[in-house]
Amino acid sequence: MLIRSHHDGFQHPRSSEITPRQAYVRRRAWLQSLAGGAVAAALPVWAAGADRPGKLPALASVASQVPGASTMERVTAYADATQYNNYYEFGLDKGDPAKQAHALKTRPWTVKVEGLVQNPQTLDLDALLKLAPMEERIYRLRCVEGWSMVIPWVGYSLAELLRRVQPLGSARYVEFVTLADKTQMPGLRSGVLDWPYTEGLRLDEAMHPLSLLAFGMYGELLPPQNGAPLRLVVPWKYGFKSAKSIVAIRLTDKEPGTAWNKAARNEYGFYSNVNPDVPHPRWSQATERRIGEDGLFAKKRKTLLFNGYEAQVGQLYAGMDLKKFY
Ligand code: MTE
Repeated sequence: MLIRSHHDGFQHPRSSEITPRQAYVRRRAWLQSLAGGAVAAALPVWAAGADRPGKLPALASVASQVPGASTMERVTAYADATQYNNYYEFGLDKGDPAKQAHALKTRPWTVKVEGLVQNPQTLDLDALLKLAPMEERIYRLRCVEGWSMVIPWVGYSLAELLRRVQPLGSARYVEFVTLADKTQMPGLRSGVLDWPYTEGLRLDEAMHPLSLLAFGMYGELLPPQNGAPLRLVVPWKYGFKSAKSIVAIRLTDKEPGTAWNKAARNEYGFYSNVNPDVPHPRWSQATERRIGEDGLFAKKRKTLLFNGYEAQVGQLYAGMDLKKFY
């Protein structure tokens, strides 16, 4: 994002197919009719090998009950979602993470949850996978570079985890620290960001039910290039807030620094809410190109305030000047 030569021009992904929402709604109905009744509710949406696009282990989920948790828009093709990535620890080009991250060791894996909490914990991946029921949520993800995707994530609200550790009254922010392992991540040799990549949210943003701790996508475990074994997904903020491969979560009383904010304070604010009225110094945020809709005659889409999640999250920012707190 920071580097002019790589990102000023939009790089066209391969043209590819999009799975129409209706197609997998039909598939879901079909699978449910096979399984019958109550059993069906516990079935993964991408169940029974009917759709295992990455051939990774399946991750069962139920449809989320959180209001606004799933868009009916077309889901982005798996190939685009997994080959057009930003994961700077594995290189700066969009295709680098898919090429370089495949060997990322995701077990054993632990996440420390610490700081201003009553009950600090270090949880391993198995404990995290069992902590709350897995839900599927089909979110729009918009990158500050001007492209967007629609991805069916599997995970649960970050609030489920935060409640376990009982935030103290003094906790106001949450910092996310991600893996920085030189032996596995060739991108760490570049000084483009201050490693480890960190991100932050205000505690009330982190506790919002739409803030998702994701372990999977498209019914399977996350592939490494998308942030395995667990990442954050905050659908109303620019993509860079959604930190990948998290190793620590810290509750603090001060606004934490974030990797992008440290790299270019005037370009990447702490909030980074999707907002068509607040242009990035180098890119307008008024419209976006949906990956997979990049044909010759494809129209750009209008970017929506809070990425279309205003009804759910607008009240978090009541009275705030969003041009100042960008
Ligand atoms: N997390 C880490 N650890 N490192 C990164 O470089 N890139 C961010 C975010 N999380 C990034 C990261 C950016 S800029 C975006 S747009 C999203 O991940 C991209 O997520 P995706 O590749 O799954 O679409």
